[in-house]
Amino acid sequence: MSVHILVMDGNWHWQPRLRDISPGAGTAVLCRASDLKWADELRGVTAVVGLADDLPVEHWVAAAQHLHQEWRIDVIASLNDRTQDRTAAVAQALGLPFHHPDTVAWVHDKHRMRARLASAGVERVKCAQPTTLEELGDFFTEVAGPVVVKPTGGHASRGVTVVRTREELPAAWQHAWGEATSWTGDYPPLVEEYVPGPEYSVETLTHRGVHHVLAVTEKTSDPVARVETGHVIPARLDGRRESALIAHTRSVLSALNIRFGLTHTEVIDSPNGPVTVETHLRKGGDQIEDLVREAAGVDMADLYLRQLTGQDIGELEVLRERRSHPVYRAAAAIRYLAPDRHGVLAGIDGWQEADAEPGVMRSGQLVPDGTRLAGLKNSDFRLGFVRVCAPDAERAVSRADHALGKLTVRWAE
Ligand SMILES: Nc1ncnc2c1ncn2[C@@H]1O[C@H](COP(=O)(O)OP(=O)(O)O)[C@@H](O)[C@H]1O
Ligand SMILES: [Mg+2]
Repeated sequence: MSVHILVMDGNWHWQPRLRDISPGAGTAVLCRASDLKWADELRGVTAVVGLADDLPVEHWVAAAQHLHQEWRIDVIASLNDRTQDRTAAVAQALGLPFHHPDTVAWVHDKHRMRARLASAGVERVKCAQPTTLEELGDFFTEVAGPVVVKPTGGHASRGVTVVRTREELPAAWQHAWGEATSWTGDYPPLVEEYVPGPEYSVETLTHRGVHHVLAVTEKTSDPVARVETGHVIPARLDGRRESALIAHTRSVLSALNIRFGLTHTEVIDSPNGPVTVETHLRKGGDQIEDLVREAAGVDMADLYLRQLTGQDIGELEVLRERRSHPVYRAAAAIRYLAPDRHGVLAGIDGWQEADAEPGVMRSGQLVPDGTRLAGLKNSDFRLGFVRVCAPDAERAVSRADHALGKLTVRWAE
């Protein structure tokens, strides 16, 4: 019997792959009107409904109920942070499986995630959601050390500041408030104790409650802007620390009641053990899907789509061998050109030379010539990237650095 999937985001590009895996699969799309601009693949789509981005959830439920009556929806999918809260509400109303609304709320609201992980006994990070600058000051006094001020529902490192002295608090407070409106609502900023240590992300695919670890990614960030400047898989970790990170991530995912699907969990390996930064109900950005494919030989989209169509993917060899630990066959890295600079970008030279370096898989400019840049404010201010593969992580990192070194940025002013 063919499956009919209600897709509640703008991820159109995987629909042809879905039909390769499950030729009879049908899709209907219920998305935000602003996502309609991605509608470049309409073959085989039964219906497309676009709703004004800010319509309250009951309209989403009503539209989905109508589609369900007309075409009997079997499964609901959303890999986009923007619509997962509505997707969870629709799934509940239609009695179809998806993440529970609480899971979506815990994942998207970093303050609620902290509260949930603390009450589940997984980890305890000092944090608060002050309503005034004075309350923020009180928290800073209480912690007696550096703190991080960031938006509660943030993304792309927007509005994040590491604060080390009391004098820095007002600017950090304002910076975070500037990004207070998130995709799922408005929240006052979050302040947390600063957790020291190297950062990683754990890429997982959960099937029937079992968290399969596809890769552990090592990340580098700009020390001030906290913008991610590179990733390498596999992370260069000894076996004991890798096991601790994986075990911790599994308990985080279980505490958040994640029973299926792809997740991307950011973790700091602190002197007191692993601490979560955030997680997502989707794959990681920054081409991590490509890094996983090149380093681990796993096609995340293929597995996710098979899961969506009802296949018992837990029995596939590729997941059976990853029940406890990731398995790698090579390494892959991405490095970003991310200067913290003000000025107008005149151009970037050296792409051909960079592409000729060993192991380069892909490179590209991310902002057009002529863009006015005002420092490394967030991930969107990264100028370009190179992605490489190599036999091991050490060589992947040095290849990426070499290739990146071939690029020269020209500034107009
Ligand atoms: N409590 C914390 N301790 C130390 N660093 C943090 C903390 N919270 C955030 N950071 C740093 O800021 C970065 C961005 O924070 P994050 O919550 O991941 O925001 P975003 O959703 O924008 O990625 C993290 O990758 C990490 O480098
Ligand atoms: Mg993050």
